[in-house]
Amino acid sequence: MRQPALTTTASFQALESHAVDAKAWQLRQLFAADAQRFPKLTVDAAGLFLDYSKNRLNADTIGLLLDLARERGVEAQRDAMLSGEKINLTEHRAVLHTALRMPRGKGLVVDGQDINADVHAVLDQMKDFTDRVRSGAWLGYSGKPITDIVNIGIGGSDLGPKMAVLALRSYAHPRLKMHFVSNVDGHDMDAALAQVDPETTLFIIASKTFVTAETMLNAGTARAWFLQSGTEEQLARHFVAVSTNTEAVKAFGIDPANMFPFWDWVGGRYSVWSAIGLAVALAVGFGYFSDFLAGAHAMDEHFREAPLEQNMPVLLAMIGFWNRQFLDAGSLSIAPYHQDLSRFAAYLQQLDMESNGKRVTRNGAAVDTPTCPVVWGECGTNAQHAYFQLLHQGTDIVPIDFIATLRATHDLPGHHDSLLANCFAQSEAFMTGKTADEVRADLSAQNLSADEIEALVPHKTFPGNRPSNTILMDQLTPTALGTLIALYEHKTFVQGVLWDVNSFDQWGVELGKVLAKNIHAELTGEIQPERHDSSTNGLIIMAKAAQHI
Ligand code: F6P
Repeated sequence: MRQPALTTTASFQALESHAVDAKAWQLRQLFAADAQRFPKLTVDAAGLFLDYSKNRLNADTIGLLLDLARERGVEAQRDAMLSGEKINLTEHRAVLHTALRMPRGKGLVVDGQDINADVHAVLDQMKDFTDRVRSGAWLGYSGKPITDIVNIGIGGSDLGPKMAVLALRSYAHPRLKMHFVSNVDGHDMDAALAQVDPETTLFIIASKTFVTAETMLNAGTARAWFLQSGTEEQLARHFVAVSTNTEAVKAFGIDPANMFPFWDWVGGRYSVWSAIGLAVALAVGFGYFSDFLAGAHAMDEHFREAPLEQNMPVLLAMIGFWNRQFLDAGSLSIAPYHQDLSRFAAYLQQLDMESNGKRVTRNGAAVDTPTCPVVWGECGTNAQHAYFQLLHQGTDIVPIDFIATLRATHDLPGHHDSLLANCFAQSEAFMTGKTADEVRADLSAQNLSADEIEALVPHKTFPGNRPSNTILMDQLTPTALGTLIALYEHKTFVQGVLWDVNSFDQWGVELGKVLAKNIHAELTGEIQPERHDSSTNGLIIMAKAAQHI
């Protein structure tokens, strides 16, 4: 259905009028005026808790935002996605990552194909394989159990598994050490190979298309490295593939029996739930991998069923939209107060920015509002000692998502309270700030002259009124991790619907790939770099010269 331009819709215009006053609101005053603000602006879903009260909005704002969600057809488009309609228009594909986490027997038939049966057949294959590797029944060519697993993939074939393996560190198998090689930069592969032994290493070649240049080069390097010790026949015990491209897997020399398939209706950045999650299942075991899927499914059910007023992904999306559109927030900072979520921001970068980093609508017209903010972040408390200065006192408004667990998965005394104290203190500080008078009062208690105090006041004043969300869960379990990722997936989907962009293609990564092929030929061959601009020509000549030194 052709959507009208966003700014022409009645609900957008109502929000615009509302924003005229709302932009001047002060969070301190909003809290002071309403003792019930916290219970009113918080929501529970599938074991997650979202506090969105520290945003510059009130219940009327939320009402208007949800009017916009309805006018843009969020509910109908959600149902279209979940039922397998081909909503990825530029690639004519369904978008069914939610089907990957449906329990067995929840029949989903699309284009005459029983998707649920297909998904569970691969899950069974994964269970059998992961059980054998983890138990030590699967042996390397010299008869020893596998000790190291190297996942070779990039983008969605790396970020999801790597993030989840790190996040679920506490659940990992003690014998299996996980490695991830993604970069075409040989230093990445070199560092991994330096740590492993061909007799006890299993390589997973993870690539939806099995043509991605980085992955194919890395896979070839790993194969050549293995063949320095093992034979072609022994490759089968050390190389498995995860892909949709059986022919290319065979051509690479991997036995199709060692291939874990998935389907074109799984987008790369939504693929950790498919066999691309094999590294996760190997690390934590199939039981916990099933919990991970179940956690995501619980969020899917919430997203499908909860009224928009209590629908966590919808609320998170609408608040993000409000901040982007009306507070001019060009970026979103992710601050997990959990060291095991150290790759979560990197994961969300692809999820959000590859999905919604678009400038035309599904019909090809230019969008008439800003779209996806830049997503970035680091774990607290490290982030506090790096860039929080700018977030507190810089000139830009950067909304923050704080993510924390109420309980730790370690038992070291003293740490978790300290961590949570920092997390809550930061969200409080961003909200309240510190006025000039409060700074003066503090400084007066010290032995300073009036001039010294006045000189310091502007530096020590915090504007505050800076928006944040806080997402809490009990512990970072496999289930909770699945739920958290699915929350952000659906948030991304809803924002894509608002902006009317296709959240499921990624044409923007193509141009660089093509140009890199041309330049590679110039770097490695005799072709002279004359066809480019003077900068690119110059850089290529420098690199060619250096290689001959
Ligand atoms: O280049 C972007 C991209 O297509 C991502 O969307 C994808 O996750 C990544 O490349 C890897 O693709 P593949 O799994 O096919 O190797």
